[in-house]
Amino acid sequence: MVRLVAIMISIILQIIAAAIAIRFMKLTKYRLSWILLSLAFVLIAARTFIQLIEYFWGEPSFRLMMLDDWLGVSISILIIVGVVLIRELFYSLKRAEIQRARAEKRVINAIIRTEENEKKRFAKDLHDGLGPILSSVKMSLSALEKKVARSDGGSEILGSITSMTNEAISALKDISNNLSPHILTNFGPASAIRDFTRKINQTGALEIEFKTNMEKQRLDPDTEVVLYRAACELINNSIQHSGATHIDIELTSVDNIVTMQFIENGKGFDPKKVKSGDKRGMGLSNIETRVRSVNGIFILESEEGEGTSALIKLTV
Ligand SMILES: Nc1ncnc2c1ncn2[C@@H]1O[C@H](COP(=O)(O)OP(=O)(O)O)[C@@H](O)[C@H]1O
Ligand SMILES: [Mg+2]
Repeated sequence: MVRLVAIMISIILQIIAAAIAIRFMKLTKYRLSWILLSLAFVLIAARTFIQLIEYFWGEPSFRLMMLDDWLGVSISILIIVGVVLIRELFYSLKRAEIQRARAEKRVINAIIRTEENEKKRFAKDLHDGLGPILSSVKMSLSALEKKVARSDGGSEILGSITSMTNEAISALKDISNNLSPHILTNFGPASAIRDFTRKINQTGALEIEFKTNMEKQRLDPDTEVVLYRAACELINNSIQHSGATHIDIELTSVDNIVTMQFIENGKGFDPKKVKSGDKRGMGLSNIETRVRSVNGIFILESEEGEGTSALIKLTV
């Protein structure tokens, strides 16, 4: 009696499993792997049914025993083939995922490169187009200055025009340099970051200490831009948001690993809140995207009242 109950329970559960598997077939778009596994469930239920027949008929016939054995073999084959097909499916999903990630990276790289090229072009246009005009205005002004000096009046106005022209020339240099720092293109990231920190130090806003062991070392242009732009953004953030008085930046190259460590003593913030909240800016996420585009890692650590530190690690 107990055996009968066990057989009945098995049959019911196996029919339910088979029914679920068959209904699931549509969701899997009738994939062969799932059809085979569903068939295996149906045969398992059929096999238990044979057990039920044996229970009522007593001694099973030779035919029934053969049927039972071959059902067992068929079930095993169905399960093996089904599982192998599912494994293939997982592999192909994984391959598709890797390809998708690669394609995404290529698109991001292309966007970043286009952006940098546009900035370069713009900087060049400003420098080559507007620069000479302003310089010749300056020359004409100094020629005029000599003439005006002889007559009276006008020299004051001329003086202020000259100083405005000088301001325009230096603003033009700054804009063009910010857009595409020639020092980065010509001398590499260490020189460019040092130059940027020197300018900030001159303002007296805060003190930046920059150390590096890669003075003349050149990297792939994309990587150099990433390091430079990240350093500038982190420094700008400290100036704008943190009230820090001191920043340490260390740019190090050991074997083929380049790291940039950034530590400041500002008021700190909760990066999680910034990521999800409405304070979310473009600066930090741009660093993250740029670093990822050259296969690097970017770690930002900060806590309210504890300052902010950041690490960029790249294989070059
Ligand atoms: N060094 C820092 N110290 C304190 N708060 C910071 C610092 N860096 C970033 N934050 C906070 O994170 C926010 C997002 O920074 P960011 O992505 O660079 O955008 P943005 O600078 O344009 O606001 C900032 O608005 C600021 O609240
Ligand atoms: Mg910012």
